[in-house]
Amino acid sequence: PASDPALVERARRAKAALGDRLFVLGHHYQRDEVIQFADVTGDSFKLAREAAARPEAEYIVFCGVHFMAESADILTSDTQKVVLPDLAAGCSMADMATFDQVEEAWEALEDAGIADTVVPITYMNSSADIKAFCGRHGGAVCTSSNARRALEWAFEQGEKVLFLPDQHLGRNTAVLELGLSLDDCVVYNPHRPNGGLTEQQLRDAKMILWRGHCSVHGRFTAACVDEVRARIPGVNVLVHPECRHEVVLKADHIGSTEYIIKTLEQAPAGSSWAVGTELNLVKRLAARFPDKDVSFLDRTVCYCSTMNRIDLPHLVMSLESLAAGRVVNQITVDPDTTHWAKVALDRMLALP
Ligand code: 13P
Ligand code: SF4
Repeated sequence: PASDPALVERARRAKAALGDRLFVLGHHYQRDEVIQFADVTGDSFKLAREAAARPEAEYIVFCGVHFMAESADILTSDTQKVVLPDLAAGCSMADMATFDQVEEAWEALEDAGIADTVVPITYMNSSADIKAFCGRHGGAVCTSSNARRALEWAFEQGEKVLFLPDQHLGRNTAVLELGLSLDDCVVYNPHRPNGGLTEQQLRDAKMILWRGHCSVHGRFTAACVDEVRARIPGVNVLVHPECRHEVVLKADHIGSTEYIIKTLEQAPAGSSWAVGTELNLVKRLAARFPDKDVSFLDRTVCYCSTMNRIDLPHLVMSLESLAAGRVVNQITVDPDTTHWAKVALDRMLALP
């Protein structure tokens, strides 16, 4: 539906009043009514770099989810303030790894006598204290656009990787990009003693995958790839690496949201694409490329409900509050967590 014109006007006015003091970041999964006000759009990696590159902005309004706003707070200076328009915009995947669970897993690795050979790598989609854990233990952060380089780096530092919290990104990258076998991977279940694994299994594994997943991308199945191929002859299947391994195996192209956009920008007119990622982005791409047939991989509706919590009324509230000198819904990470999470983020940003 079209945005409410009165709210659009209020957002425009508040943004103009704030001028260069404000910088608005928008993740590709955000609603159209919100993304129109973003100064820059991007995937998690691009947005983290953009936040770090704006020292002049007093306020960063992050239209995305909680872990992204935390990362922006970590990467910006103490005087800058990061705002998340709705504090309920979390991420179910990030919530699947808590600090206590990860500490317990590390103790299991210590008990198995392998902790000093393990490098912890966490996907950007994790809380700041998990990133800090990785920083303290010689590890790093990765995103869907640099997971391969992060894993290559990790295997130069140690023999094994503990990959948090997305088992699918970890498995897909290890098997399809680093050439590891599925037998090299085990899944650590934080709800079972010792992760549901024997010490021998932990010792034999190269990749210890956390049992987490994205509730949106986890809905795509191998059957929906078969179905779309039967329905649209010659279709190209383009999916995000948060999809399950069997889906990614059947796809033609795999990559981050930024990669998905670039692939469609370069696709020839008349080509057909079935895209397996969040629905706001797929709809926007279908509207942007009317000369190409862009459809959703699964025909059931599949928005990310937490991304969608950031809507125009919340954005207007954030911008008008800032214009009135009040900072509402600020995201702050404590100094010790910031220090160690920044160590892990900087290791990612320094990857070649
Ligand atoms: P990217 O934008 O980094 O591909 O991440 C997708 C995602 O799920 C963010 O929550
Ligand atoms: Fe989290 Fe998945 Fe939503 Fe991204 S799309 S914010 S990983 S639940």
